[in-house]
Formats: sequence, structure tokens, C-alpha cells
Amino acid sequence: MIPLPPSAEVLPDAEAVAAAAAKRLVALCRSAARHDIAVCLAGGSTPKRLYARLSGPDYREQLPWERLHWFFGDDRLVPWTDAASNVRMARDAFGDAPIPEGHLHGMATDGTPEAGARAYAETLRAFYGAADLDPARPLFDLVLLGLGEDGHTASLFPATPALAERTAWTAPVPEAGLAPFVPRITLTFSALASARETLFLVTGAGKQEPLRRLARGEDLPARHVRSVGRLVWLVDRDAAGA
Ligand code: 6PG
Repeated sequence: MIPLPPSAEVLPDAEAVAAAAAKRLVALCRSAARHDIAVCLAGGSTPKRLYARLSGPDYREQLPWERLHWFFGDDRLVPWTDAASNVRMARDAFGDAPIPEGHLHGMATDGTPEAGARAYAETLRAFYGAADLDPARPLFDLVLLGLGEDGHTASLFPATPALAERTAWTAPVPEAGLAPFVPRITLTFSALASARETLFLVTGAGKQEPLRRLARGEDLPARHVRSVGRLVWLVDRDAAGA
């Protein structure tokens, strides 16, 4: 098995990873001190199982949908109806989940990456109610992240300026490092760190290589993710080489 981060849990398969993440969200909701609960959604394909599971019979009744607000860690600059859109992916995966109007906070992907990043930072600040992030009062109850085959997470790609952003909560990404090669908007490490719990969801044999590279100590973007709360890697056997 590949040496994994100390906080990693290896689960039998992708469905087990989704179930473990769903259980963790239910627990976070039950322990949430605030009325409004903020979840930062990962994009890509891995989290689809989780979002569908949350909307399904096992979890739908366990979640306080009227308190939950869903944000995005990143998105591609395509229309929300486009197959590459993370908003579309989430809407399709959540299906008929009772998400109240205005509780799915998509990024403005119809302009420039710079304008979209600025607008989303305002969306986050308006929800948070302050201009500076207080470690004692995280912006998110849960941050969900994936791991790209090049070691990126959200749209924080290797050797891009967004990696160095330490104050802004969002950043434009004019050039994506992996397909789809469209401009992106991403949350920065600072915003992603403001979480009660951060979960990496990593499944499939294709993720063995980035996990190996992280284990070798390579300076990949995913290595720099921090959390003011708990940071846990949920990895299935295929990805872990187990
Ligand atoms: C995105 C995601 C990205 C994703 C990884 C893994 O918008 O693409 O935010 O960071 O999590 O690329 O993608 P898969 O889950 O599709 O392997």
C-alpha cells in the first residue's frame, strides 16, 4: 500500500468513501453551533456519489436542508448548463434534494476569471459577515476536496500564481493545468483552511500516482491544504494500492 497522510482512512471502495463522508456531514450538522451550515463542495467526478447519497433515502431525512448552504471550491468558466460546470454536476448529482432557493451558491462563470473571483469573494464575505477570517469561527463547517492526477486540488494547479495568494479568499485561474482547459475560479488556501473539517475524497487507481508523489514529499498543491479544524483523507483501496 502507498504511504498515506497520517489522517488517512482507507475504505473498501468509492461508495464506502461517499458513505463515510456523508456520516461526517451529518455529525457536523448535529454539532453545528450556528443556524446556517456552510459546506464547500468539491468539483470533478469523485464527489458525485456523495451528493447523490446525501439526496438519497439513507441521508435525506438526516440533513437540515433549510440550514445548509452549499458553496463551491472552484468552477470552470463555462455556463452552468455546460457538462464541464461544477454547478451542473452538483445539481445533477443532488437531483431532487430539497435545497432551498438561494442555498446553492454558484460562482459567476459568465465573465472574466478576475470578475468572477471578486464576486465570489463578496458572496463568501456576505455569508460570513466579516472581512477577515477568524480561526475560532471558521467560514465552512465542511470543505470537500478532490485530488487531481497532477496533485492539484480545487483549481489550485502546480506552478500557478493562485498558490501564492495568502489574503484573498478567491483567485482567478486564467489557465487550467488539466482538462478541461478552460479558465477557472478557485478558492485560495486561506479560504479552504477556514473549516471545522476538511475531507479529501480520493478514489480509483488513477490517484495512486499523485498519492505516491505526495508520499515522496513532492511539493504538490494538495500538500499545502490546511484546516483550522480536522483534515482527513478518505481514500479507497484502489487509490491506496491496498
Ligand atoms: C475540479 C475539481 C478538482 C477535482 C480534481 C479531481 O473542478 O475539477 O475541483 O480539483 O477535485 O481534479 O477530479 P476527479 O474527482 O474528477 O478525479
